[in-house]
Amino acid sequence: MRWIDALEELAAGRLPEPVHRYFRQGSAGGISAAEAVDAWNAIRFRPQVLTDVSQIDLSTTVAGTPVDVPVLVAPTTLQRQADPDGEAAMAAGTGAAGSLVVVSSNAGTTFADIGATGTPWWLQIYVARNRSATIEMLDAAVAAGARAVVLTADTPVVGRKEDSGPTVWEVIQPGHLLANLEEDKYTNEDLAKADDLGPDVIGWLAERTGLPVLIKGVLRGDDALRCAEAGAAGVIVSNHGGRQLDGAIPTARALPEVAEALAGTTTEVYVDGGLRRGEHVLAALAMGARAVLVGRPALWALSVEGAPGVTRLLNDLGAELDHALRLCGRANPAALTPDLLG
Ligand code: FNR
Repeated sequence: MRWIDALEELAAGRLPEPVHRYFRQGSAGGISAAEAVDAWNAIRFRPQVLTDVSQIDLSTTVAGTPVDVPVLVAPTTLQRQADPDGEAAMAAGTGAAGSLVVVSSNAGTTFADIGATGTPWWLQIYVARNRSATIEMLDAAVAAGARAVVLTADTPVVGRKEDSGPTVWEVIQPGHLLANLEEDKYTNEDLAKADDLGPDVIGWLAERTGLPVLIKGVLRGDDALRCAEAGAAGVIVSNHGGRQLDGAIPTARALPEVAEALAGTTTEVYVDGGLRRGEHVLAALAMGARAVLVGRPALWALSVEGAPGVTRLLNDLGAELDHALRLCGRANPAALTPDLLG
């Protein structure tokens, strides 16, 4: 069996059941989570022949940062449940593959420890009702060398999970969440997510940090354009791995509309959700994504083989993408264009 396909099951042998379930699950009826991979599998290609594919180059830049492979690691919580070194191990494994990691604002590892790995990283953030808490986190991330801020916009409230059995929150160990906030200073109400945000928050984040700002959770062309007009450096087409609004369309279906809306702007397009094969990455890049992100596969790989597992995952996906590029007759990500799609 292909190692990537075996990972979820392998991880089940290493993680407490509530943690494994939390990593795997979607929200509500699990419809969006279940159909994400199928939506990529449904894409068909029109490969080109008789082109020179002897030299493949997978490198690109993401919001100005060079990477060796257009597969990045998505922000996910509770990485210290997967590996004792948590986000630092995820970062180290990612860096060894020449890629970039997006660090969840819930991270259980300090930004300083993540930055010390030398791997380029972006901070994922939610804006809290008490903006002082958000500012504290933004300033700490800037000090530790974050290269961009990713605002997750699809979470004005957290998606409803339908658990049977103890939830992850009943089993997690202390210190596995929010290592980058002096939690005692804030009430739960302070830390609740702001649900009244508009596009002007993009300018606020850019001004506070001096960093590029990307908006994660965009599924519509009109929203992508509003983000671009407000100064976003990028948008990430995402339905949060099917963990927010259940029934939200698969990202494989949303991506073309977003890419079309942003054609002619300098705002970059990224996508996550259900990307499990080189051919899926090929489809995403042909639709106009600059790079993709993987969430659960990186968590499983970290759980099963630690940092080297994350490196192996990204290397494997890169090798599959290299192979698929040759078979479709194009030599680098920038040469992937929508005419390749059937
Ligand atoms: C997530 N995701 C997420 N996103 C985010 O912006 N902040 C976060 O803290 C988290 N936490 C999180 C935890 C777990 C366990 C999962 C599975 C996902 C969503 C994540 O960044 C990404 O959008 C999806 O995981 C992508 O889908 P795949 O690759 O998991 O199918």
